Amino acid sequence: MNLLVTGGAGFIGSHFIRSILAKYPDDQVTNLDKLTYAGNLANLRDVESDPRYAFIRGDICDPETVDRAAKDVDAIVNFAAETHVDRSIQDPGAFIQTDIGGTRVLLEAARRYSHRRYLQVSTDEVYGSTEGAPFVETDPLKPSSPYAASKAGGDLMTLAYGATYGVPVLITRASNNFGPNQYPEKLIPLFITNAIDDRPLPLYGDGRNVRDWIAVEDHCEGVDVVLRRGRVGEIYNVGGGNERTNLEITEAILKALRKPASLITPVADRPGHDRRYALNAEKLARLGFRPRRGFEEALSATIEWYRTHESWWRPIKSGEFRAYYEKQYKLR
Ligand code: NAD
Ligand code: DAU
Repeated sequence: MNLLVTGGAGFIGSHFIRSILAKYPDDQVTNLDKLTYAGNLANLRDVESDPRYAFIRGDICDPETVDRAAKDVDAIVNFAAETHVDRSIQDPGAFIQTDIGGTRVLLEAARRYSHRRYLQVSTDEVYGSTEGAPFVETDPLKPSSPYAASKAGGDLMTLAYGATYGVPVLITRASNNFGPNQYPEKLIPLFITNAIDDRPLPLYGDGRNVRDWIAVEDHCEGVDVVLRRGRVGEIYNVGGGNERTNLEITEAILKALRKPASLITPVADRPGHDRRYALNAEKLARLGFRPRRGFEEALSATIEWYRTHESWWRPIKSGEFRAYYEKQYKLR
């Protein structure tokens, strides 16, 4: 397949591109990425000279750029998005623009060029919080944050292009990813890198919120299974089956790094903070996919990666991240 992957310089998109090039010798990948604060070409150093890989710097909201990138491909896989909940609370505008508006521009290209597939990479956050049974794909959407609402808007636009114009759409909704190359604004890389530097770990609220964690490599394999074997028009949850409280995650990181519990610093809660995410991933299991990586091993490998890749995260933490972090955590 000849794929257009958007947002491929980010955390998950870069893992996805690497895995496609490794697994399918005849596939080609064009990566369209705006290189926002979260985009980082260092994530793709090992594949950048592969003749089957091409990079275009550009915005998915720009129809001309998208047209050029999408003309000769078989399918689009859309990872490009504004992704951090706390930033969406500070300033929702860019989220609506990229996560809904940019999605529409990509769908328009998929329609124009009669692509074989359009896959929208979405999130469990569109369902909102559950205290009961894990979410299934037919559950109503009840997003709590501007980020989640924007992603829900992107999902609905995707389904509308399927129903109205016959674009062969697919949607995946994954739980919380973790692994190498994740921007250190997110819980796990923030707490690992802060702990390495003996800095406080700002735990929101009572620390008992629950997330379902999936190794990024497993998520990428799930997306690929849906891309190649999913039924057009359908939504597939990609869950990890690893529910943990934030406090449990924090304690595991401190233990692995042999750092004291006194680094844990309770701070005011995130507004609209969802209590628990949980996904029922049986529909994807029926396509033959289940996550393969154990949570504890994958978390240890992630901690080890940050411990041994300071040259990746130190420039980030002393650059754009710094102003964001000060604004975010001084509020509390
Ligand atoms: P990320 O923030 O690490 O990367 C996002 C990438 O998109 C960056 O490279 C950025 O430069 C690019 N981008 C942003 N706006 C763009 C635009 N207008 N045009 C072109 N490129 C743009 O994000 P991530 O964590 O890798 O998430 C990727 C996708 O997976 C997102 O759609 C996200 O909603 C979804 N998702 C993430 C998780 C998670 O836990 N991280 C879980 C489920 C779903
Ligand atoms: O569930 C999938 C989603 O997971 C993705 O769609 C999002 O793109 C991704 O950012 C992530 O959203 P979360 O809000 O769950 O992730 P985050 O890492 O921001 O926070 C995880 C949990 O940790 C959440 O309950 C808030 C808490 N937290 C987070 C930070 C950054 C803290 O207690 N302290 C912190 O400093």
